[in-house]
Amino acid sequence: MSNGNGNSRPVGVVGVGYVGLVTAACFADLGHDVVCLDVKPERIEALRAGSVPIYEPGVDRLLARNRARLRFTLELDELLDACGIAFVCVDTPSTHSGDADLSRVRAVVDSLPETGDRLILVMKSTVPVGTGEKLREDLDARGLERVGYVSNPEFLREGRAVADFMEPDRIVIGAFAPADGRAVADLYADLGAPVISTDVASAEMIKYASNAFLATKISFVNEIANVCEEVGADVGVVAQGMGLDARIGPHFLRPGIGYGGSCFPKDVKALKQLAGNSGYHFQLLTSVIEVNDLQKRRVVGKLERHLGPLRGKRIALLGLAFKADTDDMREASSLILSARLRSEGATVVGYDPVAMGNAADLLGDDVELAGSMLEAVTGADAAVIVTEWGEFRQICTRAVRDVMRTPLVVDGRNLLDPGQARAAGFAYESVGRPPATAAR
Ligand SMILES: NC(=O)c1ccc[n+]([C@@H]2O[C@H](COP(=O)([O-])OP(=O)(O)OC[C@H]3O[C@@H](n4cnc5c(N)ncnc54)[C@H](O)[C@@H]3O)[C@@H](O)[C@H]2O)c1
Repeated sequence: MSNGNGNSRPVGVVGVGYVGLVTAACFADLGHDVVCLDVKPERIEALRAGSVPIYEPGVDRLLARNRARLRFTLELDELLDACGIAFVCVDTPSTHSGDADLSRVRAVVDSLPETGDRLILVMKSTVPVGTGEKLREDLDARGLERVGYVSNPEFLREGRAVADFMEPDRIVIGAFAPADGRAVADLYADLGAPVISTDVASAEMIKYASNAFLATKISFVNEIANVCEEVGADVGVVAQGMGLDARIGPHFLRPGIGYGGSCFPKDVKALKQLAGNSGYHFQLLTSVIEVNDLQKRRVVGKLERHLGPLRGKRIALLGLAFKADTDDMREASSLILSARLRSEGATVVGYDPVAMGNAADLLGDDVELAGSMLEAVTGADAAVIVTEWGEFRQICTRAVRDVMRTPLVVDGRNLLDPGQARAAGFAYESVGRPPATAAR
């Protein structure tokens, strides 16, 4: 079993998507040999050939630097023969009911052979509270007591995942057997981060409660922004003034068009469902979800205020990924916005600096895809900043104004200075910053 110095058994990683690949690259960089398993042959072939199948800053550098320590395979046996500890990093998307879909997690656990060496299975995938307990019972029922089970939820943010892994605020480890928890904690020893050692259910809950709280902060500040629009206050200053209160803190107080991505929407829904399935109605989360849905739709109202009915209008969506510095489009605001705009009869053209491959798969039939910001806004009646990519800060130029049919920018991320946008000849809308403030 590995002890953190790289001289002992390799670490296994099952599922090399955003979380698994970052986990593998970072453990390799900490000196561990790592065996990575996935079910997608094209993903494993790409990684073997030295190319990185996802966009996540810094991962390519870590993978290149640690090639000798990393092995990629499609065969579970190869991982199990080599590794004493295996991190499960498979996806756990939402089902139609809002519960987490655990089919990939179950596929991994069910495929463990009845015989073999001792193994510690570490659940990094986000799974509902109680999952570890059920999986433990299933393992025991199959005579797999030799397989230890540890919950080690992941908190990394896409776009900053390497730094988040290497400098975590905390490492949460929930174990049935304390020795298994200690073996997992040892792998992280060099990071020097605070470790919360607890039971499996509490570890699982820490992940859901954290994401639900952050989503609540976002929906809260978005509602404050909406009230600011009504009463003539500036949410930027309001959030700054709130954030300086140490009891509140400055993080996650940026208003916008609502949260998206592969985690917040599904995890908030899953916690709400988990509570409901256990007989408790989580009223606050119901509102958090509703506010988030409505926030995306407010963009349509702002466009209509300037353009009237949107039928026949051409709207450019700038930024298709769910946030900047990733190519991930799962539950991205662009998906909802493009569908809403199309149902109003608008033509939608989209552009993203890195997510065009995923955009072609998800939006290709419905949205015209442009090769640059300038191409996207050419002939457009409005440009909507959906994702806070740095290059969109440069939108208010003469070149852009000249090619747009109507120089209207709806800034869903409060990326631009309202005064400068207007001075450059654009009609400008943002979130929670009333025209009176902008004109000053
Ligand atoms: N993406 C994030 O920002 C983030 C942050 C924290 C936690 N999480 C959680 O981590 C988990 C993984 O998320 P992700 O974004 O990395 O997902 P992902 O979809 O990017 O990657 C999942 C990978 O697992 C592979 N896989 C699926 N079934 C498999 C199996 N049976 N055996 C081997 N590989 C298999 C898939 O092919 C894919 O490559 C989820 O539970 C998610 O909620 C994600």
